[in-house]
Parts: sequence; structure tokens; C-alpha cells
Amino acid sequence: MNSVKILAIESSCDETAAAVVEDGRKILSNVISSQIDIHKIYGGVVPEIASRKHIENIDFVVSEALRTAETELNDIDAVSVTYGPGLVGALLVGLSYAKSLSYALKRPLIGVNHIEGHIYANFLTTANLAPPFICLVVSGGHTHLVKVADYKKFDVLGRTYDDAAGEAFDKVARELGLGYPGGPVIDRIAKNGNSAAIAFPRALLEDGNYNFSFSGLKSAVLNYLNKAEMQKIQISVEDVAASFQKAVTDVLVSKAVHACKEEGFNTAALAGGVSCNTSLRQEMKKVCEKENIRLVMPEPVLCTDNAAMIGCRAYYSFMNKSFSNLNLNANPGLALQ
Ligand code: KG4
Ligand code: ZN
Repeated sequence: MNSVKILAIESSCDETAAAVVEDGRKILSNVISSQIDIHKIYGGVVPEIASRKHIENIDFVVSEALRTAETELNDIDAVSVTYGPGLVGALLVGLSYAKSLSYALKRPLIGVNHIEGHIYANFLTTANLAPPFICLVVSGGHTHLVKVADYKKFDVLGRTYDDAAGEAFDKVARELGLGYPGGPVIDRIAKNGNSAAIAFPRALLEDGNYNFSFSGLKSAVLNYLNKAEMQKIQISVEDVAASFQKAVTDVLVSKAVHACKEEGFNTAALAGGVSCNTSLRQEMKKVCEKENIRLVMPEPVLCTDNAAMIGCRAYYSFMNKSFSNLNLNANPGLALQ
């Protein structure tokens, strides 16, 4: 059989991205146009601006993805696209573009769930990975602990009751005056801080379930900062960042490893933007080694939003001839099924 080339488009939040993926695992191109420089002026993603920027960028990004993959539009076997979850206006840009291409080229359309895409990024970095495994999905919008039973079966063991892990990083960074997005900068400055300096809470750590809560931790950081300001005590931003990051990491690692042991799985995976985090990656590695669990993680560029992960997920739908209709709509609240 000839190789299968899938064009993938991702526009669910503030990255306009396109990729060409061959046979599900080989990235021929992965183009990402980030809007972060625009949104950081406002301290977070402004949905209206995101949609407009996607419209401005998408044509160029798709052309670049095809050009760098040395692939003609006619060589594409299917067009895949994120249709949820995400910002509705942003999703609609990629979805409309993908539908038009699918219709004009007479190639199947494959709608992809963004969270499944994040999980599938692991197959791109670790070619011999196969289900079953436990995946900790930690992004700006989601915190899920997922049992990946097979290529299409995802059981959500637990999720956050309130803020997503990435959201907590972004909010704490804002309070510390570190700008948006908060994760990368907290990660960087925490390297010069003492993670044991401040005893921030680890919510639901001993609960025995797989749910998370980060809003109390965020409030604890705010209280600490307010109290220091009132008492005119000089704080160390590095220590706050390191102690906060350690509190998040401790809970994430503990629950992910606990899930592997309880469910009898010997492979753990990370996914989503927060899985770029140095402390999370190191801590996970350390504990998994101790517990004899195989750990896989996408390389950092495949942790944050990208289209290659969407093309990888779409390949499995393509092989099952599981295609979408041209009336597929954007679904901002799409759940992991
Ligand atoms: O997966 P992603 O690109 O978008 C969503 O689907 O949400 O994740 C973005 C999130 C942001 O909250 C960002 O602060 C966080 O990932 N992030 C990090 C790091 N890099 C990105 N959080 C902690 N440490 C990092 N190094
Ligand atoms: Zn994402």
C-alpha cells in the first residue's frame, strides 16, 4: 500500500498550525504560528483577536506546511482538523478552511478531538509506543488523568474540579508580574528558587481518587503575596515560583503513578503544554524509575499546541474509514469520549 499523507490543521486557541504527517508517525512538516506576542499585551488570550489572527495566518501556514513537506495538495489523502474543545471562533476558522479543502480536493475530512491529539503526540516521539497506558494530560484548558485502553478508547479516571494546571501557572505568573503565558517563565525562574521555602497546599493528595483542584493553591499563593505586601516583607519571586511549581508537580506525579499501580499499567505518558515543565518531567522520571514504570513524553514542541498531533490521531480514523461529514460543527466543549 502507498503511504498515507494527512494534512492537519489546528486553530483551537492561540496557535495557527498545520502539518503533514505520513503513516501516522512520520512528521513531514510541522508549522506553528504563535499569537502569544499579541495576546500577552492583554495578559491572556482574547478570543476575538485569536479568530481574526487565525484568518490572517491560516493560508500561509498551510502553504508552508505543504511546501516544507514537499507535498502537493493533490498528494494529500485526507484533511484533518481540530473541531473541539477550544474557542468557538478560533475553531471555526480551521474547520471551515479544512472543509473547503476537503470538498475541493475530494478527500475525506477527519475531525479530531484536541485532547486526543495531545495524547497522540506521544506516538510521534516514541514510535514503538502502543496502548494500553496511563496518560496525564495537563494543558492550559485541561487536567485529565486518562486510561488509554486502545487507540480509540479513553477512560477519564479523574479531572480537575476547577482550574487546569496550566491555568494555575498562568494566574500565579500574572500575580507575580511575570506576564503571559506563565508556565515557561515560572519554569525558568524556579530553577533559581528553593522549592521547600514555602509550604503551599497539595489539594486532594491523600484522597485516593484521581481528581485535582488547583484553585486553593492559587489562592494560597495570592494570600502569601498579599500578606507579605501588608507586612512589607521582601519576597523571593524565585522561591514562590519554585514552591508553587513543586506543589503542582507533587500532586500530578503522585496521582499519575498511583493510577499506573492501581490499574496495573506499566507505561505512563505525559501530554499538553504543562508537560514541557522541567520539574514535572524530572520528578516523573525519578518516581517512574523507582516504581519500574516506563515513562514516555512528547518532545517539548509536541507538548504545546501543534497540528502534527492532530494528523497522528487522524491517521487511525483514516485507517478505519471513520470520516466526518462536511456538516461537522465546532464543539467548544467537546469531551474526551
Ligand atoms: O497544550 P497547550 O499549548 O494549550 C492548551 O491546549 O491549553 O498548553 C498551554 C499551557 C499554558 O497554560 C502554559 O502556561 C503551559 O501550557 N505551559 C507550561 C510550560 N510551557 C507551557 N506550564 C509549565 N511549564 C512549562 N514549561
Ligand atoms: Zn492544547
